[in-house]
Amino acid sequence: MPSIVVVGSANVDIVASVLRLPVPGETVTGAELNRFPGGKGANQALAARRLGADVSLVARVGDDAAADEALELLRQGDVDLSECRRIAGAATGTALIAVAPSGENQIIVAPGANRLLTPDDVQAIDADAMICQLEVPAAVVVEAARTFPGFFCVNLAPAAEIDVQVLQRADLVVVNETEARWYGVSLQACVGLVATTRGAGVATLERDGELVAEARPPGVRAVDTTGAGDTFTAALTVSLAEGQGPEQALRFACAAGAVATLKMGAQPSLPDRESVVKWL
Ligand code: RIB
Repeated sequence: MPSIVVVGSANVDIVASVLRLPVPGETVTGAELNRFPGGKGANQALAARRLGADVSLVARVGDDAAADEALELLRQGDVDLSECRRIAGAATGTALIAVAPSGENQIIVAPGANRLLTPDDVQAIDADAMICQLEVPAAVVVEAARTFPGFFCVNLAPAAEIDVQVLQRADLVVVNETEARWYGVSLQACVGLVATTRGAGVATLERDGELVAEARPPGVRAVDTTGAGDTFTAALTVSLAEGQGPEQALRFACAAGAVATLKMGAQPSLPDRESVVKWL
């Protein structure tokens, strides 16, 4: 069982299921509203745990009722939350999500306490692997990349300016196709593996611009794609940390990401290992 530390965000997702996503300036009514625990960091931590890793989450939440909501499934799932602290006077991160019947979504994040994680919070961490995303301050990711000695994965989501040292340090960089376009040639600075997801299309693993592996996710009828990229990132890291080869790890990650679209909500839909293996 690999040990994985996830440094990242924990949110409450307020999800409106709508018949179609609004265009700018448009009001769409008739939505059904739900709340789920979410946040890229928390989703990746719980996904890695459900897939069999020993997981700890480094995160910040507020001292409000939403903090309990944000952490509930992580607690039930046995993710180590000893480095997940409440900050007095801060609000827990909130994501406003619209989901269409096709499973496509639009997300707006109010980071709240996630902004209060500091570089001091990621010192002297010991584990087989670490996963970071970009919903916490960039300086935290830079420091984590600089000091963590094990396998280091960064999921460049949401797309944002990133220090080139992080790209040079990462053993694994994960982007979706929109993020890949946003970063463009700057991804050429990556020295390790670069995984690119393309929704239901073929996902690739490359090193130095050379194709290492490719895999197509199993065909599923997506209900909600929220958290699918987080599941892919966690599954790929778990699988590589277990010592699986790139082809096998990518197939596993694609299947895990696809299974994560079958239910509403980011965390309720994160699959366990058995259900991913079934789809493989
Ligand atoms: O990747 C999905 C996540 O992005 C959601 O759970 C939401 O909280 C945002 O952080």
